[in-house]
Amino acid sequence: MNIEIFNTLNDLNRSFTEWLKEIMEEKESVSIALSGGSTPKSLFDYWATLPEGEINWKKIKFFWGDERCVPPTDEESNYRMTQEHLFDFVQVPPANINRIMGENEPEEEATRYGALLQNELQGKNGIPTFDIMMLGMGDDGHTASIFPYEMSLWDSARNCVTATHPQSGQKRISMTGKVINNSKNVVFLITGSNKAEKVKEIISDPDYAAKKYPAARVQPETENLYWFIDVKAAQKLTGDS
Ligand code: 6PG
Repeated sequence: MNIEIFNTLNDLNRSFTEWLKEIMEEKESVSIALSGGSTPKSLFDYWATLPEGEINWKKIKFFWGDERCVPPTDEESNYRMTQEHLFDFVQVPPANINRIMGENEPEEEATRYGALLQNELQGKNGIPTFDIMMLGMGDDGHTASIFPYEMSLWDSARNCVTATHPQSGQKRISMTGKVINNSKNVVFLITGSNKAEKVKEIISDPDYAAKKYPAARVQPETENLYWFIDVKAAQKLTGDS
């Protein structure tokens, strides 16, 4: 478990970008599953301001780890957030953008996107393999859109499942544990003091936490698990609370 703690979002975004560039250097093409929610906005805004050519966007195939079951124009859409904070500013070939179609019937879309992953990505043991799986974590310990009360979805035999947000009832499409843990590199981007309790529980006792929180079930077979977190999310780790 590689944990880096940053004083500012800009330091975190810069370090994560250097990490990404290192991975990209060795490869013709890189498949990345983006996380959604609000945390990645700051990273995408940082990427949008980079000098032309600093990142060769044409090498990246974009996917999502989860999506809300809403149209791509909806303010809840992870795709729309990515478009507004990144794709509107950098040149990504449209063919490289593989969005989850939140406007489709959820179960049909979970099947469609699961098949797309099977076709578009290299596989390992017959399971799609991302070069990079970006994840956030909710303050309840969910990741992607696998929530603690639906932990059984993590162990689904499918690549993607339909999940339901515990408070809003909003339907979501989410990667499952078998795809997430089959990734070559998994990276958590977690910021904010509201995440500090779960960060501490998961990092200090991952096996116990894995009984309760989907985020603690993130244990890639490659063991390439990286935590990019800010001082607020780390405050209970370092006793600064
Ligand atoms: C989503 C995300 C979800 C997110 C966490 C953290 O669709 O909401 O993929 O897993 O990463 O809920 O969200 P914040 O970054 O908004 O705290």
